[in-house]
Amino acid sequence: MRLVFYTGKGGVGKTTTAAATAAHAAARGHRTLVVSADPAHSLGDVLGVAVGGEAGRPTEVAPRLAALEVDARATLDPHWGRIRDYLVELFRHQGIEGVVADELALLPGAEEIAALLAVEEAARSRRYDVCVVDCAPTGSTLRLVTLPEVASRALRLLLRVQRAVATVVSPVARVVVPVPLPGPEVFRDVDQLLYERLAKLRELLLGDATSVRIVVTPERMVIDEALRAHTDLALFELGCDAVVMNRLFPPAAAAEAFFEGWSRWQEERLAEVEASFAPLPVLRASLADDEVIGVEALAAHGARTFGDADPAARLCAAPRLRFGRGKGEYRVELPLPHARKDALDVAKVDDALVVRTGNRRRAIPLPRKLAAATLVGAKLDAGTLVVRLAPAASGAR
Ligand SMILES: Nc1ncnc2c1ncn2[C@@H]1O[C@H](COP(=O)(O)OP(=O)(O)O)[C@@H](O)[C@H]1O
Ligand SMILES: [Mg+2]
Repeated sequence: MRLVFYTGKGGVGKTTTAAATAAHAAARGHRTLVVSADPAHSLGDVLGVAVGGEAGRPTEVAPRLAALEVDARATLDPHWGRIRDYLVELFRHQGIEGVVADELALLPGAEEIAALLAVEEAARSRRYDVCVVDCAPTGSTLRLVTLPEVASRALRLLLRVQRAVATVVSPVARVVVPVPLPGPEVFRDVDQLLYERLAKLRELLLGDATSVRIVVTPERMVIDEALRAHTDLALFELGCDAVVMNRLFPPAAAAEAFFEGWSRWQEERLAEVEASFAPLPVLRASLADDEVIGVEALAAHGARTFGDADPAARLCAAPRLRFGRGKGEYRVELPLPHARKDALDVAKVDDALVVRTGNRRRAIPLPRKLAAATLVGAKLDAGTLVVRLAPAASGAR
């Protein structure tokens, strides 16, 4: 199953573009699912049909086209329910009551996890050729796509600590310590969520069948945010395959004297975006004369935007993280488009390479051979971070 995420700043047209892509893909013969991962769902409004997803099931909205607005609570209860009940009990015990305890026990990033679980289920069902995800604004998209990696690390740590505590003190503690301890069923649920589903999701997200598309409008602030998002996504090895430039004035408007200056300005932004994001293709979506609502209008908008390109295809192959060997040293090459030297940090911590770009940080696990090597240098080379590591105990010099 092809998996395509749409991200971008608030209001740029993510929902419209995601729905248009899905409607067009379905019209071209792909079995398509469009999922809204934005808690402020507007997918149903754009499609002109309620797609609240009774019992988490997608709604058929046109031939080969299904849509789903994910309900976090309903989706997560089977997984998180018992863990949450335990947390609520724990918080109550510490004097935190009612609604506050309930709120505290909500899984951080619950909306994102629920959306991902829906995507994973769609992949497993083999009922769709392509799944298009309409994401919440940029920050939460990153949380969404990096979640399996970050959450599995956090949960694993938590699990280790809790297990250690539980095995050592549990039998006695239940009697003497006035704090409720999690029972084995809580561990079982965390385990299931952690190992089975998060691991599968990570595999799915990092695979070649997954791409992110960034929606922009011809505005400076929007473009700047898109550039940062592109770097951050690359840090987590999430490949982008296209940029969609939305709300471009159609040629008819550009011919009007009033719009002439604006059109020229838009063309400049477009050229800039094409140059900065190259080799990613920049798709042009025009400003429609009305809001783009309903499957038919969306499919037509999608057809105009994609032209001859298949909306479900991978429109550009993203370069990948590579581990290599040079003269007496190892090299790690991580593509980081638009990264700036002054906002970049590299360190080796235990057997991982920790890379920070701006305010994102990732610990990249190193292959066994490189785990004991020492960091000797790092530089940015045409949008790729090149890190040099010296083998541990060799006569490298
Ligand atoms: N190309 C377009 N032409 C006309 N209206 C558009 C276009 N793209 C988006 N819109 C309108 O702009 C508003 C915001 O779009 P939306 O897709 O909801 O953005 P986002 O999901 O990024 O917040 C909506 O009212 C939508 O109908
Ligand atoms: Mg939206």
